[in-house]
Amino acid sequence: MNITHISAECYPIAKVGGLADVVGALPKYQNVLGLTSSVIMPFYDNSFTTDNTFVSIYNSQIILGETTHEFNVLQLNNNTLAFDVFFIDVPDLLYKDYVYSFDDTDRFLAFQIATLDWILTLSVKPDIIHCHDHHTGLIPFMLQESFKYKTLNKIPVISTIHNAQYQGWFSYDKLHFIPEFDMQKAGLLDWNGVINPLAAAIKCAWRVTTVSPSYLEELKHEANGLQDLLKHEYKKCVGILNGIDANVWNPETDTFIIENFSKETVALGSKQNKNWLCKTFNLDESKPLFAFIGRLVGEKGADLLPEVCNTILQEKECNILLLGSGNTEVEEQLNALKETHKGNYNVFIGYDEKLSHIIYAGADFLIMPSRVEPCGLNQMYSLRYGTIPIVRSTGGLKDTVVDIKDENGFGICHEETNVLEIEEAIHRAITLYKNQEGFNKIRKYIMTIDHSWNASMKEYITLYNSLK
Ligand code: ADP
Ligand code: GLC
Repeated sequence: MNITHISAECYPIAKVGGLADVVGALPKYQNVLGLTSSVIMPFYDNSFTTDNTFVSIYNSQIILGETTHEFNVLQLNNNTLAFDVFFIDVPDLLYKDYVYSFDDTDRFLAFQIATLDWILTLSVKPDIIHCHDHHTGLIPFMLQESFKYKTLNKIPVISTIHNAQYQGWFSYDKLHFIPEFDMQKAGLLDWNGVINPLAAAIKCAWRVTTVSPSYLEELKHEANGLQDLLKHEYKKCVGILNGIDANVWNPETDTFIIENFSKETVALGSKQNKNWLCKTFNLDESKPLFAFIGRLVGEKGADLLPEVCNTILQEKECNILLLGSGNTEVEEQLNALKETHKGNYNVFIGYDEKLSHIIYAGADFLIMPSRVEPCGLNQMYSLRYGTIPIVRSTGGLKDTVVDIKDENGFGICHEETNVLEIEEAIHRAITLYKNQEGFNKIRKYIMTIDHSWNASMKEYITLYNSLK
């Protein structure tokens, strides 16, 4: 079976967050299981595209409103990835050194239209088209309704919602950018008086998946305005928990980290990574190290971090190290704490893949006080590296972390995203850390939990089979 993933991100080519990790791993694992899985994504101006060479396999033009744009379909020379990738190169729109920008409506409209124009020309068509997030949300609609893609409308199309907070809506001024269709069907594009790509995907895809079962349940009550639509379309939705790429995220072989380790050597191996972090970021090796990695946005509870850090660090019982970027006010507040809590606190504002690996390997606890977390990969990486997750029980965090006070528990969970509950959770972690025997037993145990794609992949394959 031939599966074509269409996505704005794919690791290691272009990554902003977990979407890239998932789209970089799914086809790899699917190919191992005998499917033929590939990815279509935009061609951006970044280090990956600079460091590699490409060959053009197709070129044509698309018209967006009054403007004609040239496009090429590119393929890698010497592809060492475990799957084929096809790049849609629209030089005057997509080729920028960032994945997302202010003119995303035009950029991703161009991406989607060029993608379908090219698929139209293929002699071997995909058996399944698998779209990811709102950037590809109009594809199910165009496949079903646009006259020029009529011959493709028997191809089953799946849309995976990685995050329903972002929907990509735009005004009706650009309705005519979408290849011609019967105007009576325009309602399929609409949600609350604007064109809403995510809503259109939910309405038009053959099946909709979310990245964890709990997130799907939550979306029926709160989906940034789409909850009634999700309730209405619930029968075609299924929540499939993400997995992790256990080859990339493997403390025994990870080339980013300072010292490799297994569950037998976690105490020592993790300590070497912790010592490096403490030396590099001026922290106290003798105290437990709490870390946060992620986008500094409200969804992740990042706005509460300055107050939490400031209060907890006054007790002088632990270190806190943060890695992330996002809201400038939060960035400034976090930077300001460096001086006050010198020796026990530090923050790296920015994106650093290598550093993130060392933090998963060297921290004692990883905090994720998310208000919304469709799946969350950080907690699964942290488990794999023997770092105990402290999470707010929501979405995928609820599906992957069991509190130590419950049967077979191994993490620390809290119910709400507020300062008091996060602080209480950190206090519980400090108590756990003081009992080094119990702490190390949990570390060893969590490294054995299997969150690789193997389990979830079966659910995707069942879904694909049900559509053929
Ligand atoms: P989301 O996609 O909502 O940001 P996920 O938990 O699914 O959250 O995935 C986040 C991914 O991005 C993980 O691979 C995490 O390690 C990585 N990440 C987030 N922020 C940074 C950063 N500042 N530097 C390096 N990696 C980061
Ligand atoms: C989104 C979600 C995150 C999820 C990721 C991969 O970015 O915010 O929770 O893990 O997609 O599916």
